[in-house]
Amino acid sequence: MNVKGIIFDLDGVVLSTDHFHYLAWKSLADELNIPFTEKDNEKLRGVSRMASFEIILANKPELKLTEEEKEKYATQKNELYRTYLQKMTPADVSEEVRDTLKALREKGYKLAVGSSSKNAGFILERTEMTSYFDAISDGNNITKSKPDPEVFLKAAEFVGLAPEACAVIEDAEAGLEGAVAGKMLPVAIGSAHSSPLAKISLDTFGDLLKHF
Ligand code: G6P
Ligand code: MG
Repeated sequence: MNVKGIIFDLDGVVLSTDHFHYLAWKSLADELNIPFTEKDNEKLRGVSRMASFEIILANKPELKLTEEEKEKYATQKNELYRTYLQKMTPADVSEEVRDTLKALREKGYKLAVGSSSKNAGFILERTEMTSYFDAISDGNNITKSKPDPEVFLKAAEFVGLAPEACAVIEDAEAGLEGAVAGKMLPVAIGSAHSSPLAKISLDTFGDLLKHF
């Protein structure tokens, strides 16, 4: 496989906002008396906001909400989540990540973000990471969330490459599934490190330079 472009998941790969997601969902779950633990939060990796809420609601099947109520509560969660994001700074992205992205670009790779998050643009802005990437594909330009490959296919399109010329770096099983479905090279890091779907597993972000 001749890789010319690298598509990065954002949360859990370039930086980490999972704990903020947890705190915001936990606050809503407590309000609705739904049991929700950090272990449950792991299931929400790479999953869209509404699909995440459905997973949480499954912990209390007797609670029946209308679509309107679901939208309202998900918006409430997002507002709290964004108060945490507001506190993010460039220091929330490691030097290792910045140096590696810079080096990959110097080697001639096209770099893109492929994230299910509708807050990706805001997070990249807060951490001053926007300029490290040639394109951003996120929750705002897709209709189907991971494990559907749409977000990655769009990212490939945005940088003008065929899917087969792209690698996808993911910390979520759903993301690796999307990469496989999109005919891209699936590369795992973090929580997805031991996934059987991964063709390459990275111990550290900097290890990308050993493979690309
Ligand atoms: C990322 C995170 C998920 C989150 C999703 C949607 O994929 O890993 O945990 O649910 O984005 O995020 P949003 O910011 O749109 O609510
Ligand atoms: Mg992720």
